[in-house]
Amino acid sequence: MKNELAVIVLAAGKGTRMKSELPKVLHPVAGTPMLHHVLGAVERLEPARTLVVVGFGADKVEAATRGAFPAVEYVLQKQQNGTGSAVLACEAALKDFKGNVLVVYGDVMLNSCPHTLPALVEASAKNAKGLTLLAADVADPTGFGRLFKKGGAWVNVEEKDCTPAQRKTTTANPGIYTLPAAALWPLLRQLKPNNKQGELYLTDIIELAAKAKLKVNVVPVEATRELMGINTRQELANMEMEVQDQLRSMHMENGVTLLDPYTVYFAMDTDIANDVVIEPNVVFGPKVIVDSNVLIRAFSHVEGAHIGKGSTVGPFARLRPGAELAGGVHIGNFVEIKNSTVGAGSKVNHLSYIGDTTMGADVNVGAGSITANYNKKTGKKSKTIIGDGASLGSHTTLVAPVTMGKNAVTGAGTVVRESIEPGALAVAKPHVLVKKNYNK
Ligand code: UD1
Ligand code: CA
Repeated sequence: MKNELAVIVLAAGKGTRMKSELPKVLHPVAGTPMLHHVLGAVERLEPARTLVVVGFGADKVEAATRGAFPAVEYVLQKQQNGTGSAVLACEAALKDFKGNVLVVYGDVMLNSCPHTLPALVEASAKNAKGLTLLAADVADPTGFGRLFKKGGAWVNVEEKDCTPAQRKTTTANPGIYTLPAAALWPLLRQLKPNNKQGELYLTDIIELAAKAKLKVNVVPVEATRELMGINTRQELANMEMEVQDQLRSMHMENGVTLLDPYTVYFAMDTDIANDVVIEPNVVFGPKVIVDSNVLIRAFSHVEGAHIGKGSTVGPFARLRPGAELAGGVHIGNFVEIKNSTVGAGSKVNHLSYIGDTTMGADVNVGAGSITANYNKKTGKKSKTIIGDGASLGSHTTLVAPVTMGKNAVTGAGTVVRESIEPGALAVAKPHVLVKKNYNK
């Protein structure tokens, strides 16, 4: 029988170096919290149990994660006094668990290292009773614990506790371990806060394992950026760049043209069909689906939207959550679409806001037209319905709730407060004062 695996993800720390109210592990990379990247990599191992250790902002971390990873269990580390005590907090929850435990950090993303964790798990199978961990040789080991041999056994010394000579060691500890549960708890109970930070360091189990005559297997891995850990805003930005580069390459491999790849930003879940062309400076927020043969022009921002086949969006367009564009739709400059469906072949080309609207096919929305969907006094949003083939003259304001029937027409500058029958024309003709010889 395959040895069962429990994964412990450490996510209780505040992330002091981020200088943030938001728990560090919730800071997003490519639109997805750091912790979710880690849990995504963990999920691929199909562990029997996954425990996330929470502490600082525990409620926020749990609330942000529960929906995406329903099987995860949360363990509270009441006092954040070190990574060793964080793992020890899981002892009660895992007291009947007899398999292997894999420990990872919530700030080491791993996501695009699909082979790293499986390689570690495989290596640990050959060291069934002992401790298996990763080591990476890095040019700049700043921030990492250093791994080296002392008296024939591996030890980890945290950067803050290193002598100047030890600090020069380039073998870095990415902080990913696996060992049998039965071996883990006794080692953790021996931890002592004998270090500059006065904390219980998980890293000390390496030396303790050797002393307990357990085999310590150090697996060298390539020092990819995903193993680097995110402690500062600079490291967060570096990771964002790294992940964005991977996403850009992936989309181009899938048949998407990016005119200037480095200026296009994707979310992890951006789903783009082939033969889509994306001009420079386009940003995708979460939950976007783009069908084939779409052109997204420069400086557009797209989030929670579905863009149908052969549509054109932008330049300078904003598609907000719930924007559903059918095929062959034209959305032009300075147009915002929110929570609305736009039927096949319809055009909203200039300076418009369409919100909470169901728009049919072949509608033309004249420049500057908007749906007035929000009543500040009641706080209520209302719906607009625009039938197939309708035509809105420039600067039409549709005050919702309101319906324009099929093929209905509005004249320029009309404020529509009552529904318009199919095929009818609604025109507002405000009184225009003309003063002759006014500016001679
Ligand atoms: C840690 C390791 C270091 C390793 C590096 C790799 C220790 C003592 N040091 O250092 O050897 O090279 O990661 O990136 O383990 N956490 C808790 N509870 C706590 C403290 C931390 O859950 O009491 C969590 C944090 O939320 C974070 C993770 O553990 O997700 C790592 O903590 P962090 O303070 O970032 O450790 P590093 O200094 O990076
Ligand atoms: Ca860290």
